[in-house]
Amino acid sequence: MPDAHETQLAPFVNRILHGDCRTVLTQLPDACVDLIITSPPYADQRKHVYGGVHPDHYVEWFLPIAAELKRVLKPTGSFVLNIKERVVNGERHTYVLELILAMRQQGWLWTEEYLWHKKNCYPGKWPNRFRDAWERLLHFTKQKQFKMFQEAVMAPMGEWRHERLKKLGANDLHRFNSRAGSGFGKRVANWIGREYAYPTNVLHMATECYNRYHAATFPVELPAWFIKLFTEPGDLVLDPFMGSGTTAIACIRNDRRYIGIELVEEYVRLAEERIAREQASPNLYTFAENGVAYES
Ligand SMILES: C[S@@+](CC[C@H](N)C(=O)[O-])C[C@H]1O[C@@H](n2cnc3c(N)ncnc32)[C@H](O)[C@@H]1O
Repeated sequence: MPDAHETQLAPFVNRILHGDCRTVLTQLPDACVDLIITSPPYADQRKHVYGGVHPDHYVEWFLPIAAELKRVLKPTGSFVLNIKERVVNGERHTYVLELILAMRQQGWLWTEEYLWHKKNCYPGKWPNRFRDAWERLLHFTKQKQFKMFQEAVMAPMGEWRHERLKKLGANDLHRFNSRAGSGFGKRVANWIGREYAYPTNVLHMATECYNRYHAATFPVELPAWFIKLFTEPGDLVLDPFMGSGTTAIACIRNDRRYIGIELVEEYVRLAEERIAREQASPNLYTFAENGVAYES
């Protein structure tokens, strides 16, 4: 018998909700989501497509959404915000930095910043800067103790280690502290027999353009990485700016449940088409909601 909380959630789970997240979010119960991962519209960037927000007004636009996200996130949950400040009048605008400060004022902890290195960034040349090959993934939490499963994202140790471990010197056999006095040290001999290592906070992933109708998609492996790191199978993941459904696809492939919100109907259909193609490998946690229609 599902508990009252699950019954309240059921109409939203494993669905893309068509609407403005500023209103749709208010319908979700408190503390129901384990992870929020999203890439909101970039300031002014795609005004012609889905309504941009002027960089000078970005913080005031986003803060009420952040407040709702904080309400629906469980105390042990995480919020990963993919964002990058754009260039305005020849310099980087400061709205992302201002947003971080304002969200801290709102009660969020700015726990970490991950960096997505876009291995195949756009070619180009500018007089005052190089090609932009990275984006921020800001990690916010509600408290210092949150769910995190570091083993789930361990990466294979690279072939280079065989060569390095062939000839171990004296400094490799005991803990060797950095000569710079940083307090960091390592014992290289510990790597013998190790197949996997913990990753860094830099993710090297190529961009993907899933569909020519939605240019601003992120690669499935990006939300998938954070889903594995911050949730367990069956947990609930929210993307309030779902776009073409990438977060939902990552959830289905990793046996997590999802709630997506998307303003543009065309993108909702695109996401649904994409999701329908994934169902051959069924999501074990899909709720049977036959006949339940969500009114946006
Ligand atoms: C950067 S895209 C997200 C792309 C997505 N990560 C993907 O992989 O397809 C931002 C999306 O937010 C949607 N959007 C903009 N304002 C919105 C709002 N107020 N509520 C819900 N969705 C909104 C846009 O239509 C757009 O599809």
